[in-house]
Amino acid sequence: MTPETPAYGPTPSTAADCAPVPAAAWVYLLRCPDGSLYGGWTNDLARRLKAHQSGKGGAKYTKSHGRAAVRLAYAEKCADKSAALKREAAIKKLPKAEKEALAAKWAADNAITLRMATPDDAAAVCALYNWYVRHGVQTFQYAPSTVEDYRVNIEQVLQNAPFLLAESADGRLQGFACAHPWRTREAFAWDVETTVYCAPGCVGQGVGGRLYRALLALLKQQGYHQAYALVTGCNTRSKVFHKALGFKKIAVERHTGYKFGQWLDLEYWLLPLRAPDATAPAPVRKTLTAEEIARVL
Ligand SMILES: CC(C)(COP(=O)(O)OP(=O)(O)OC[C@H]1O[C@@H](n2cnc3c(N)ncnc32)[C@H](O)[C@@H]1OP(=O)(O)O)[C@@H](O)C(=O)NCCC(=O)NCCS
Repeated sequence: MTPETPAYGPTPSTAADCAPVPAAAWVYLLRCPDGSLYGGWTNDLARRLKAHQSGKGGAKYTKSHGRAAVRLAYAEKCADKSAALKREAAIKKLPKAEKEALAAKWAADNAITLRMATPDDAAAVCALYNWYVRHGVQTFQYAPSTVEDYRVNIEQVLQNAPFLLAESADGRLQGFACAHPWRTREAFAWDVETTVYCAPGCVGQGVGGRLYRALLALLKQQGYHQAYALVTGCNTRSKVFHKALGFKKIAVERHTGYKFGQWLDLEYWLLPLRAPDATAPAPVRKTLTAEEIARVL
């Protein structure tokens, strides 16, 4: 009998294991507060939008037309930079009414609604999450989850907390947010770990914020006291996002994870949902009524 090599853990994931992120090029229109439209192209929609809004690396036009208040009004994915440049030039030549028609259709197609997930949403949620498993270090997971994993995950989450989905008008999953028990001992029963992921094509467009604000409001109503988020040290987007939503960084585990050929820090971010008072806390309500949920969503 051949002696088996003892398995001590996963084979370290190297940079080559990282699935290459498909190149992206976008043409976009921004709506300025005076109603005018500004057009441009970018390979990172979320970063470009924030550049316009912050004034750092944006454009002269948006700087002098309401900068922080400009909003995405239209986005179109193109095959590559050269296609995006051509399309940008074509859109810029359109009469105002046709630009407005593009913006109106985009707004209708991308109107987001939030709803509670069911186990039947497992395939869509799993596909979205696995994109980050395969391409990024936002999650420390190496191997993609299965649809069955997610079916069980959704069922388990819903026993204690919301599992929210953001969907476009035509039913495309744009993001999800949920919460898991923070630790298993009884005294931690008022604490949760929150999670949020947007579809790669729609980060920076307000979807994560809508999902997370709704999630946090529902958790607060259930009687949870503390929301923790675990954020990879190099995930700047998530750190800025958590800070904008009121979380504070409370601890860092240095070089605690290894994925795609690099050591990763893990940061702990905390948002107190309720102030601790002297009396014993009421038990967390495991479920909310349909009316309570509808009021928040
Ligand atoms: C992190 C993530 C969920 C944020 O969602 P999002 O839809 O991109 O964020 P939003 O556009 O809703 O931004 C919400 C707030 O964060 C702030 N923000 C987000 N990105 C920012 C940036 N790059 N610069 C400055 N502020 C930013 C804004 O102030 C915004 O506030 P507002 O609602 O008042 O405008 C999303 O980018 C994502 O899915 N990333 C990949 C997966 C991931 O990292 N998940 C988190 C794991 S811990």
